[in-house]
Amino acid sequence: MNKAIEVALFLHLLGVAVWIGGMIFAHFCLRPALEDLSPQLRLPLWESVFGRFFNWVGVSVLVILLTGGFLLMQFGGGHATWQLHAMAGIGIIMMLIFGHIRFAVFPRIRRAVQAQKWPDGARAVATVRRLVVVNLVLGIVTIGVAAMSRGF
Ligand code: HEM
Repeated sequence: MNKAIEVALFLHLLGVAVWIGGMIFAHFCLRPALEDLSPQLRLPLWESVFGRFFNWVGVSVLVILLTGGFLLMQFGGGHATWQLHAMAGIGIIMMLIFGHIRFAVFPRIRRAVQAQKWPDGARAVATVRRLVVVNLVLGIVTIGVAAMSRGF
């Protein structure tokens, strides 16, 4: 394997680790730990956590897209295996879902917290939770497809 492919694969996997690992931590560790807090405490905390995490995901998505596109070219472009096309397709759906969370749902959480409209904020956080579950399932399926991409 040439050096550029190794570096691209390294960055690709780092981006995947940050994105999927962050979603696992938020969904399975942070969410249950905050469940019993009052909305007045819980929602500003989520806003602050999401504000930081979504910057990390934004960078990861860019890195995954650029390195994935480069790798796809190296592995045959349009003639690459179905597993790599599936990865690209599901990956792009995951990115669109993230874009919706970041640019449509997150501003609702911001506005609700600023206006102290706790029920609105709680609804928006629940929407993020559902979409994160969808992206987690898609992400794990994608890693499964990636594991099959060598065709062993
Ligand atoms: C635009 C989206 C994406 C494109 C175009 C893309 C493309 C690629 C390509 C061409 C490879 C190299 C395969 C090889 O080394 O044989 C690769 C590796 C990999 N990708 Fe992606 N990918 C994308 C998104 C994702 C996402 C969202 C995930 C996980 C959630 C992911 C997980 C992986 C993994 C685990 C590998 C290592 C597989 C291996 O080297 O055998 N990719 N990707």
